[in-house]
Amino acid sequence: MGARAWEIPGCPRRAGTVAGSERRRGSGPSRGRVPRRIIAGTEDTVATVKTEKLYKVFGRNPEKVVAALEGGAARSEIDTGGATAAVVDANLDIREGETFVVMGLSGSGKSTLLRMLNGLLPATSGRVLVGGEDLTAMSDHEARHLRRRTMSMVFQHFALFPHRTVLDNAAYGLQIQGVDKADRRRKAARALELTGLAGWEDHMPGQLSGGMQQRVGLARALAAETDILLMDEAFSALDPLIRRDMQDQLTELQKTLNKTIIFITHDLDEAMRIGDRIAIMRDGRIEQVGTAREILDSPANAYVQEFTQDVDRTRVLTAENVMDRQAVTVTAAALDAKWDEIAAAPGHRTVFVVDESGRPVGVIGADSAHGAVVGGRAPTVDRDVVEVPESASLRSLFRSSAASDHPLAVVDDAGRLSGTISQDRLLGAAGDAAAAPQDPAKDIVEASGAAS
Ligand SMILES: Nc1ncnc2c1ncn2[C@@H]1O[C@H](COP(=O)(O)OP(=O)(O)OP(=O)(O)O)[C@@H](O)[C@H]1O
Ligand SMILES: [Mg+2]
Repeated sequence: MGARAWEIPGCPRRAGTVAGSERRRGSGPSRGRVPRRIIAGTEDTVATVKTEKLYKVFGRNPEKVVAALEGGAARSEIDTGGATAAVVDANLDIREGETFVVMGLSGSGKSTLLRMLNGLLPATSGRVLVGGEDLTAMSDHEARHLRRRTMSMVFQHFALFPHRTVLDNAAYGLQIQGVDKADRRRKAARALELTGLAGWEDHMPGQLSGGMQQRVGLARALAAETDILLMDEAFSALDPLIRRDMQDQLTELQKTLNKTIIFITHDLDEAMRIGDRIAIMRDGRIEQVGTAREILDSPANAYVQEFTQDVDRTRVLTAENVMDRQAVTVTAAALDAKWDEIAAAPGHRTVFVVDESGRPVGVIGADSAHGAVVGGRAPTVDRDVVEVPESASLRSLFRSSAASDHPLAVVDDAGRLSGTISQDRLLGAAGDAAAAPQDPAKDIVEASGAAS
């Protein structure tokens, strides 16, 4: 091909607009860490929670029932014998700093599980390890001691004292721990500030809305400064909008607090919104543990699949989840030299022009690329690349996609092109996981060779 003017006049480093400015969901190691706090007086343990073959059976002959369950009996068979198997063979490994959601229908055993995690309910069999210490082997006194130092609880119905001020309510946990008055008021005031209730210290709970009362409940738990926060249906009594707001606040708070949060809910959308990982329970058993994405795309069984089929995928899935990793790219400098190679490739696709670092600076539309190949014309480089971060939810991409003539450019934290999303791909992914093929193994096809 002859010489062409491959000009990208005055190309800015970042072209187009950045859509979907949603924050990156903190997950595990990528989060900013606060210093590890030490629990229970031991130097090297941190507050993670682990369960091993944990069972809780209510009613007659619980040990026998566990043996039957271990032998493969179904819960329905057990129930007829006057016993209820509330938790069956729970094996969980909850990581430090994660928001771990236990999700299941009413009666699936969530609260029973939680009450064994904090030692309020003795296990029928199996172990609960908190920061490596075997809670199930402790005396009541030891268990209480461990609980106080490591765990705080937020309840569904706020559990506020109507005749105490907001501040005194927030300080209550510290009061029963014997913390002196000045100290507990200081800590409670700080916790109220964290939950957005500064200025309300002297009010009575009755003067507060439901959402605010639950924030007092949360402040009470935070004031105790424990590593682990247990929340049983903590937002379930709130109106939908306030509930959504509380979910956002908790996620926001968690970015700096970095607690280990064990959150119980029967609401799948809530689970997917706030959970780093989710455990799905049914009839006392944990059917699957995974990220929202893992559960949506690889349900462990028919139950989980059916359970999750109505989830709003556009809220849960991110650009990174659905992008095409096989974008054709070429560096601006190599464009001329590489064009024959690009043109010879089968199919005429959009070509992204990137700078030396791999950041998108322009795009050659599929039509233009086709015209250039067939008609020998110079392809037009359009500078209007619309960039979106990998963490953007699908929901946030629709407007950008509709407004752009080209696929969206998905960029990583350093602004480098990591994949692309065409309108078809976006619509397919929003409707059905199967329409969004995932092939993380395949890297971007580097038409630019060594140039980047
Ligand atoms: N103290 C108890 N004595 C007997 N059975 C119990 C007891 N506590 C719970 N159960 C039974 O254990 C099963 C699990 O109850 P659990 O309260 O853990 O469920 P859950 O998932 O928290 O439900 P919900 O969403 O309604 O709070 C249920 O069948 C329940 O009736
Ligand atoms: Mg419950």
